[in-house]
Amino acid sequence: MTLVGQRVELDVGPIAHGGHCVARWDGRVVFVRHCLPGERVVALVTEGEQASSYLRADAVEVLRPVQGRVAAPCQFSGPGRCGGCDFQHVDIATQRRLLGEVVSEQLSRLAGIERTVTVEGPYGGAGTDDGLGWRTRVTFTATPGGELGLRRHRSHDVLPVDPCLIADPAMADVSATRWPADHVEAVVSSTGERLVVADAVRGRLPTLELTGLVGADGERLRGRTYVTERVRDRTFRVTGAGFWQVHQEAARTLLDAVLAAGRPQPGEVVADLYAGVGLFSAFLADEVGGDGQVHSVESDRHAARDARRNLHNLPQVQLIGASAENAFSRGELAARYDLVVLDPPRAGARARVVRHIVATAPSRVVYVACDPAALARDLATFAEHGYALSSLRAFDLFPMTHHVECVALIEAAA
Ligand SMILES: C[S@@+](CC[C@H](N)C(=O)[O-])C[C@H]1O[C@@H](n2cnc3c(N)ncnc32)[C@H](O)[C@@H]1O
Repeated sequence: MTLVGQRVELDVGPIAHGGHCVARWDGRVVFVRHCLPGERVVALVTEGEQASSYLRADAVEVLRPVQGRVAAPCQFSGPGRCGGCDFQHVDIATQRRLLGEVVSEQLSRLAGIERTVTVEGPYGGAGTDDGLGWRTRVTFTATPGGELGLRRHRSHDVLPVDPCLIADPAMADVSATRWPADHVEAVVSSTGERLVVADAVRGRLPTLELTGLVGADGERLRGRTYVTERVRDRTFRVTGAGFWQVHQEAARTLLDAVLAAGRPQPGEVVADLYAGVGLFSAFLADEVGGDGQVHSVESDRHAARDARRNLHNLPQVQLIGASAENAFSRGELAARYDLVVLDPPRAGARARVVRHIVATAPSRVVYVACDPAALARDLATFAEHGYALSSLRAFDLFPMTHHVECVALIEAAA
């Protein structure tokens, strides 16, 4: 028998990975959204039945609030509403404390590493920003009528959202018009260029003032197919929906953290796995200089093509357009590295790639991770091969959401 729709009173326990807290009801675990640890709430069950071992629920009434709760700035957030943000009801300092607890818990549970984690704002800021207006890439889904919105949590149902308060206000106002497409991604670059990526187009597209309009496969529909991103003294071409960090300050924040942790030296041989359009490779190349080498691996063909352009004036960079798995197994990477930098997608590098990395005997590995669970699992594999976590920084590069970015330095145990 379904329990969906049942109202239950809960004492909310700790934060868990995924944007919810843990509570207990009737002998079961309940994952509850829109609440805070220590609160007493009335929650509506959103998933689960009598026989389920756990339930999902959404706090619809707060009986006993705790410090850190605020009125959500976004009118579209809240129980049953937009699934894009998780923590609009929480102040920024508390969001960062909770994210730190999540990273600590994942490290402990999945890698046996006990560590208190402090989450820094972009540039190591103390967390005084408001967490709004930071997102330079937003993918909207179109309703059957072409109106743009964002999905409700764990649903295909689209809620029209205009404006999205975490979006950079400099991006094109795509929600003001209807789109004959399935998805529309609005992009604004650090140089102020505005691009729209439209997926599954089936009609005449609206006319907006844009740098370019591009299909999901990178095909040109109008204007340019790419934007230019600037980091320090370098520019990077990023085509269409190709990967670029979505927070305005993320590229520079992560670059600084990677270079500080990895300490690349002149003449060293370095690998940059999951290199995207070449952000880390370019600056690693500057550090190792003409006598060093950087081997960059990227599997997406558009990103690899962009990387080739972005890195063409750096002869010490060798670009390998392949998956990390194939680049290793085909022998396209070197036998030994001084430093390996890796920045894999959410699933992490996984055991096979970690085993390949340790086989190249690097003295330092810098792991940039967007999912602390995947990071923790991979750290456990590194530990099996004599590599230990030396330092870890965590950054709130996705304010209002449960996402958190980590930069881990992993070194061969002495
Ligand atoms: C999180 S992004 C990092 C990009 C880059 N380091 C940056 O900061 O801009 C991950 C990149 O890995 C690429 N990728 C995904 N799976 C891959 C694989 N198995 N091997 C190599 N690259 C992969 C994606 O196309 C994407 O560009």
